[in-house]
Amino acid sequence: MKLNRRQFGLGAIAVGSVFPAPAILAQQPIVMKFSHVVADDTPKGKGSLRFKELAEKYTNGAVKVEVYPNSQLYKDKEEIEALQLGAVQLLAPSTAKFAPLGAKEFEALDLPFIYKDDAQFQKVAKGPVGKFLMEKLEPKGIKGLAFWDNGFYWITTNRPVVKPSDMKGVKVRISGSKIADQYFRSVGAIPQILAFSEVYQAMQTGVVDGGENTPSNIYTQKFFEVQSHVTGMNHGHLQYAVITNLKFWDGLPKDIRTQVDKAMDESSVYANEIALKENVDSLEAIRKSGKSTVTQLTPEQAQPWREAMMPVHKWAENRVGKEIVDLMHKETSV
Ligand code: LMR
Repeated sequence: MKLNRRQFGLGAIAVGSVFPAPAILAQQPIVMKFSHVVADDTPKGKGSLRFKELAEKYTNGAVKVEVYPNSQLYKDKEEIEALQLGAVQLLAPSTAKFAPLGAKEFEALDLPFIYKDDAQFQKVAKGPVGKFLMEKLEPKGIKGLAFWDNGFYWITTNRPVVKPSDMKGVKVRISGSKIADQYFRSVGAIPQILAFSEVYQAMQTGVVDGGENTPSNIYTQKFFEVQSHVTGMNHGHLQYAVITNLKFWDGLPKDIRTQVDKAMDESSVYANEIALKENVDSLEAIRKSGKSTVTQLTPEQAQPWREAMMPVHKWAENRVGKEIVDLMHKETSV
């Protein structure tokens, strides 16, 4: 009987043949599968491809990174299970999707109207908040490597939206966060969790009639073709934590791990740098398409949304813990 490379794990070796010399084994690259749900042409897509390029370069090909975009391998929930089982080595899920990992504290990053701008989010992620959150992962067998930014959410609907009451009765797709569930309920919308790969069809068929996402996702998934209005007021923010399986990570030879770490640091800087521009460009492309009306609310128009949603901060203490909510407030007040 022959085993294929995957079954054996290290190389194409026939059982019963002479055991291969270590030098031959050493030539087999360590494969890292990096699965994600968005398009290549987004901050996360580009960040993962940059990581592939750098990790392969810095390890002289000892590591091979296979990037699988667009939910090709797994949908939202499945990818987290696959990582825990060791079927995939790298993911960058939005932090709204961390509750199934037993780390619902990550939802604190979804508090409404918490960040002044993207730069503030990035600072928070690099500071004590980021450290507090990443430490929650290790007991679950997961290692957190980096936070990647994807900017502020925009609300998509099939009706003009200016006042909070314009959301009354709108069935809004959310990605998983209970905090998002709560802030949409506080303006009268009806939130519903759906996997990212199912959103376009759900919008097209009227299963939902709204959503929140970043311009780069709204554009590359063509949500703007099935939603007539895209409205921004910086109410919420989309960010990712790049994660790997702890056992896999700890099992990497030390010299390889150092190089992979370096590749991750550099690709993280890159992904965070491009997020803002990718979103500005996507918004412009949506505007130009003429298929959806893009409206940025003024600070005065955003104020009643802020007032409606701010009580969620208090509510969140029971969901994610007072400690992390307080830490978020402290870190965003400077
Ligand atoms: C979503 O589900 O809307 C996002 O988390 C997708 C993503 O990964 O950007």
